[in-house]
Amino acid sequence: MKVGIVGSGLVGSTCAYAMVMKGVGTEIVLIDKNRNRAQAEAYDISHAVPFANRIRVTSGEYQNLKGSRVVIVGAGVGQKPGETRLELLKRNEDVFREVIPSILEHAPDALLLIVTNPVDVMTHFAWRFAEQHGVPPSKIMGSGTTLDTARFRSLLGIHFGVDPHHVHGYVIGEHGDSEVLTWSLLSVGALPLEEFCRVRCDVDKEIKETIEYRVKKAAYKIIEGKGATYYGIGGAVSHIVDVILNDYRAILTVSAKTPEIEGVTDVTISLPRLVGGEGILDTFPPPLDADEHNELRKSALVVKSAIDELDE
Ligand code: 2OP
Repeated sequence: MKVGIVGSGLVGSTCAYAMVMKGVGTEIVLIDKNRNRAQAEAYDISHAVPFANRIRVTSGEYQNLKGSRVVIVGAGVGQKPGETRLELLKRNEDVFREVIPSILEHAPDALLLIVTNPVDVMTHFAWRFAEQHGVPPSKIMGSGTTLDTARFRSLLGIHFGVDPHHVHGYVIGEHGDSEVLTWSLLSVGALPLEEFCRVRCDVDKEIKETIEYRVKKAAYKIIEGKGATYYGIGGAVSHIVDVILNDYRAILTVSAKTPEIEGVTDVTISLPRLVGGEGILDTFPPPLDADEHNELRKSALVVKSAIDELDE
């Protein structure tokens, strides 16, 4: 199964590498306006194949996307130290005006997986082009808060001394400063948080604040230290693509066009969604407490106002 990756910088090439090491797909085509970069990344990653999984890794032009089941879009600029994801909007909007129509022309049947930040707004923007080609919103998703949910679960897993796969917590809303950690829904194994804490360990206000801070500021901290994040998002994207290609029916907090949430209409944000071979199969707005409802409304309004800045 063929996967295209448009944007072969640190994020796009790490997505490709993660897919090779995990055995996701059978063919990967890397596209970039810098053809030499795409070719060099494809060449380098293909040298890992003998130690991993038999996946054909090449570079090419948009026409080489033909037949892709999924096209990952990581083209555009990333945050500089201290820059918010929303501050990338205008520059990446211009990049998408060229990239998305070219993808839709050459891979009209592919699912689009948007990674470029601000990912919620860029997913909405991609959907606008796709809608003109009759592509349903279920086939356009953004990585959204999939990575934030993983960060939340792994920090909790460390605190509890439990495999994060058994820590069921969700981060929803904007993939950004207004994202919402849904503490009220948290469960460990079969126990709601309070019950679990009676048995094993506590989560006091200070621990909650520390985990909240570390999830929300993870990217800023990493970018400060090494200029960009790419391994976490590469792992998240390779997981999402694996779920799609194998129709695993996983519930992931991916970003997608949402008709209405918390009274905000036509907004693109992350909610727990059933993801399979045909894209987004269902969306499950979670039963939040009053504070979380309010936070999610604020988050949806942040994304909505950024969407309103998009030029027609
Ligand atoms: C991340 O959260 C920068 O959005 C990217 O790692």
